[in-house]
Amino acid sequence: MSGEAGMSAVRLWGGRFESGPADALARLSVSVQFDWRLARYDLLASCAHARVLHRAGLLDDKELARLLAAIDELSRACQTGEFRPTAADEDVHTALERGLLERVGSLGGRLRAGRSRNDQVATDLRMYLRDHARRVVARLAELQTALMEQAGRHLAEQTPAPGMTHLQHAQPVLLAHQLLAHVQALSRDVARLRDWDNRAAICPLGSGALAGSSLPVDPEAVAAELGFDAPAANSMDAVADRDFAAEFCFAAALAGVHLSRLGEEVVLWTSHEFGWAEIDDAYATGSSIMPQKKNADVAELARGKAGRLIGGLTGLLTTLKGLPLTYNRDLQEDKEPVFDAVDTLLLVLPAMAGLVSSMQFRADRLANGAAAGHALATDVAELLVRRGVPFRDAHEAVGHLVVWCQVNDCELGDVSDEDLQKVSPHLTPDVRSVLSVSGAIAARDTVGGTAPGRVADQLAALRHDVAAAAAWAAEG
Ligand code: ARG
Repeated sequence: MSGEAGMSAVRLWGGRFESGPADALARLSVSVQFDWRLARYDLLASCAHARVLHRAGLLDDKELARLLAAIDELSRACQTGEFRPTAADEDVHTALERGLLERVGSLGGRLRAGRSRNDQVATDLRMYLRDHARRVVARLAELQTALMEQAGRHLAEQTPAPGMTHLQHAQPVLLAHQLLAHVQALSRDVARLRDWDNRAAICPLGSGALAGSSLPVDPEAVAAELGFDAPAANSMDAVADRDFAAEFCFAAALAGVHLSRLGEEVVLWTSHEFGWAEIDDAYATGSSIMPQKKNADVAELARGKAGRLIGGLTGLLTTLKGLPLTYNRDLQEDKEPVFDAVDTLLLVLPAMAGLVSSMQFRADRLANGAAAGHALATDVAELLVRRGVPFRDAHEAVGHLVVWCQVNDCELGDVSDEDLQKVSPHLTPDVRSVLSVSGAIAARDTVGGTAPGRVADQLAALRHDVAAAAAWAAEG
């Protein structure tokens, strides 16, 4: 931007200055390249503000009508791209004021009464985020649905899977149970965003620069018109507070962590060594040199993008930590991390939903692996406990059995009656009755357990939650 362009720009604070801004200041100061996406919300807030000024007797009927028509026209021009910010516009508010002045001349300047960019920008950002939280929730619900469809299919087939701790075979589970574990994490993300929205629904407009307004503006009416629950209770807090942005970044970062963990699982599942699942061609990538390769880049990018979401949160908290009340220009740095968080989630979620819904699980491999690694050892120990053996002794007896199997390279069920007795007198031949994967799974029949009936209950409850989340997202 040249110095001349800077000087010919609409500046909202030129009155007390004799010279225009230095180029270096203008370049540092400008935010329109990223805050332009607030234009829609800034215009909605301007309509509400114009009505308030009219009710306060500061605009007559004709002036209000002309202003609203001009805002409407400007809004359409923004949508078609016919009105664009120029290099000389400092921020979205400056650019839109220029657009209004171009349309209605000095009447456009009347809208400045009773508000400041400080309450405007805080209002716009809340509106943007509340709107986009709903879009993010809609996409989260789609990914949950993709996971639930796979879970439903594999629940019907009772597909077992090797349940792991420490990435080692632990106990068999239903594949559906494992898939629904990811749905649960995403449900918490949805709940967090919905809960966040309750706190974000406070309207700063009317707070002016920091102290409120001496003009009879009507913060309650503005708040209601813009879909907020209430106006801010403290004008100083209202223009200084960015908790809503930081909390949004946290909710996004934690959702990113959940996507990353799901991504990591997909990478493992689809590796040759696991061989639990195959990625559909549409969601796999190849290698430029190795013709045989089929890579899980979607899952890896989901894992990788968590880094930038966490970074955005960390950066924003760092920006906020030393600020005195009230508005400080540092706060302009609040936007890029939240915008990036929204963009990142809206990019990753549909790709993950597509990846999950088109993935083919290999039930045979999962079933073969489910009992591997002596994964039914706990079942034997718990059988002994049911017979009155203290768990400590049962654990030790079965531990010896496992070592015996490792030394003799066999499975728990292959040990003869004689050898069972040799290992421990507790190990009578009928302990073999619990050595079945389906039996072990069916036995975990406590709330939240992997028994088919419990998993079915879980799936039904999640379907209900996800439908409610999708409805909430569609409301806004
Ligand atoms: N572009 C600014 C921001 O995003 C708008 C508020 C400017 N206010 C001020 N007093 N300079 O924070």
